Amino acid sequence: MTDTHWPDYYEVTAERPAWGTVTQAAEAFPDLPPGASPRLAVDLGCGAGRDARELLRRGWRVVAVDRTPEGIQKLQALTPAEHHDRLETHVADVAAFDIPACDLVNASLILPFLPADAYADTWRRIRDALAPGGRFSGMLFGDRDQAASEEPDMTCPSPEVIRSHLDGFAIERWDEKEEDGQTALGEPHHFHLIEIVAVREAEDERAAVDRTSADDSRSTRGAAVG
Ligand SMILES: C[S@@+](CC[C@H](N)C(=O)[O-])C[C@H]1O[C@@H](n2cnc3c(N)ncnc32)[C@H](O)[C@@H]1O
Repeated sequence: MTDTHWPDYYEVTAERPAWGTVTQAAEAFPDLPPGASPRLAVDLGCGAGRDARELLRRGWRVVAVDRTPEGIQKLQALTPAEHHDRLETHVADVAAFDIPACDLVNASLILPFLPADAYADTWRRIRDALAPGGRFSGMLFGDRDQAASEEPDMTCPSPEVIRSHLDGFAIERWDEKEEDGQTALGEPHHFHLIEIVAVREAEDERAAVDRTSADDSRSTRGAAVG
């Protein structure tokens, strides 16, 4: 996939509604008390900003990143003037972007376009940016997507590998869809799409889960022996 392809994609998709993953993640946060500072989201591979603009509409601050300047220009042009003070944009490669500490990292249909080493490293930077209670929302391609066999520069791991990148998160949404369909530009494509919302867990919550698993396994062993 070359970057020259993306401006056509923006023409078709720019005014489409935000993805359900990002709206679900935003709605999972409790209301802020009056006068509190807005929460911060980082939108990786924002394109023309369908998700970023929805977060701005909901009162968030947004750092939006995309490598294609036309996407960032479209996002800026479509953002109402009264929201611009909460929007920061970067024309940058997500693979080298220093993701700031934030409440939400959103990545809709961007991570599969990274090569495997950058993909794994970007997951590390996503985890590092989120404190307990912070969320990830995103849409990824799994290993049965057509791109997995036809696009060697893309990364479309198995669901098990994707789950391993979510170590330390509680998964709130995991929707896997496999179907023959069309890309936004009308090309036939076999999709294996994985929609995710996940919340970063505190260490003590994880330890409690680990203890419960250990207790369960002890009691199962005991039952078997008894
Ligand atoms: C399928 S579009 C998704 C855009 C937007 N998130 C959406 O859902 O409408 C993929 C986007 O990822 C961007 N992209 C691809 N590789 C990138 C990279 N390494 N760094 C930054 N952006 C990248 C493209 O420029 C494009 O805007």
